[in-house]
Amino acid sequence: MEKQGWRCRKLVLVPCPFQGHINPMLQLGTILHSKGFSITVAHAQFNSPQTSNHPDFIFQSLPDGISSKPDIPRDFLAFMSSLNLNCRAPFQEFLSQMIGKQEQQDELPCIIYDALMYFAEAVSSQLKLPSIILQTCSVTTMLTYFAYPRLQEEGYIPPQDSNSTELVPGLHLLRFKDLPSNTFDDLDPTLQLIAILSNIGSSSAIVLCTKLLRRPLVAYWKEDSSCISWLNKQGHNSVIYVSFGSIASVDAKELTEMAWGLANSNQTFLWVIRPDPDNGAEPTDWLPDEFKETVGERGYIVKWAPQQVLAHGAVGGFWSHCGWNSTIESISEGVPMICRPCFGDQKVNTRYISHVWRNGFELENDLERGKIERAIKRLMVEKEGEEMRQKAAELKEKTEVSIKKGGSSNNSLNELVELITSG
Ligand code: UDX
Repeated sequence: MEKQGWRCRKLVLVPCPFQGHINPMLQLGTILHSKGFSITVAHAQFNSPQTSNHPDFIFQSLPDGISSKPDIPRDFLAFMSSLNLNCRAPFQEFLSQMIGKQEQQDELPCIIYDALMYFAEAVSSQLKLPSIILQTCSVTTMLTYFAYPRLQEEGYIPPQDSNSTELVPGLHLLRFKDLPSNTFDDLDPTLQLIAILSNIGSSSAIVLCTKLLRRPLVAYWKEDSSCISWLNKQGHNSVIYVSFGSIASVDAKELTEMAWGLANSNQTFLWVIRPDPDNGAEPTDWLPDEFKETVGERGYIVKWAPQQVLAHGAVGGFWSHCGWNSTIESISEGVPMICRPCFGDQKVNTRYISHVWRNGFELENDLERGKIERAIKRLMVEKEGEEMRQKAAELKEKTEVSIKKGGSSNNSLNELVELITSG
């Protein structure tokens, strides 16, 4: 972080309108509000946040010209380009008006924007306002983005085999198959996205998320808290929680294999299956009747669970796609993981969980019921799973230390506040 001060007390946050991005931004806003900053959230109309959980924030909607729901991750780059193009002018107008009303330097705002909302950096720079990036991925993922130009120059990207298990030179223990990209078949979109995510522009600091704040946040689906009553009836550490976040999806065949893997494992499970975005089909419509009869009360299925299920004492394991929020939530609650990364940074997170932190392992290759059953037993009942649970508990302790006075996260937060406020 560069040493210079701006004497700002007003912050304008610009989140990217996806669950896994908007929540970390609002968490940061909540922390900074508690340090005395006023918070304005300038957000796209698409997926606009519910304001009721944040009565102290001002919300400013930016017309974004988005008329239909994009197919994510397939259309991600095109969607982000339109969003950035369309939000720029309204954001500039909003900030200009805000500045026009201010008389003193310490009333000027500082902009904190999601790395994907790069129009905010362009506008801040034009209006000579200080700006800070929020990266919602892990620091390792970010360093991997920074390494792409070198890897391309040295001829390692695109890789000859994107599923190669060979180590990528200079990236510690990451293999080519762990690199954060959806595909290397069409290199340009991947490189464009990486260039966006690693562009610092005129920003003075990068904020990375390393901890969970337990607070009601934004959910684009209605939380089904009936699962908490069901969890209350289950034994300590007996339930495996299955959720693939807000974007990743599995097809009907994989869903059936997951169902039978869960049923045959004989473990109790809480499973989030989001409604089909195309036809709105109920999650349980997909599942065979025979499965429902076999499982009975042993399994509980919801369309969207409250975030706090990971903190429930009955949850003893988490089968996750390893989005960064899910990963830090699992670490913060000391829950070991089965990792099933789908795309992007999830692969990097998985490699760190399975080979550095050792609080989980990866379920690789095709989803097949026998393999799933074995993986669940490995995590939930076998000695190896117990060791991972121990590692998870140690990590939880470390995160708790880091947020206490003198801890690393706490110190970084104080440095951030000092950077924004000191004259
Ligand atoms: C996206 C990307 O996919 C991910 O790779 C990136 O790291 C962040 O942005 P998403 O896929 O939604 O995020 O995953 P994740 O980062 O794990 O965020 C999901 C959030 O939804 C978590 O906070 C999780 O607790 C919450 N959630 C999920 C619920 O509250 N209820 C649910 O039923 C499922």
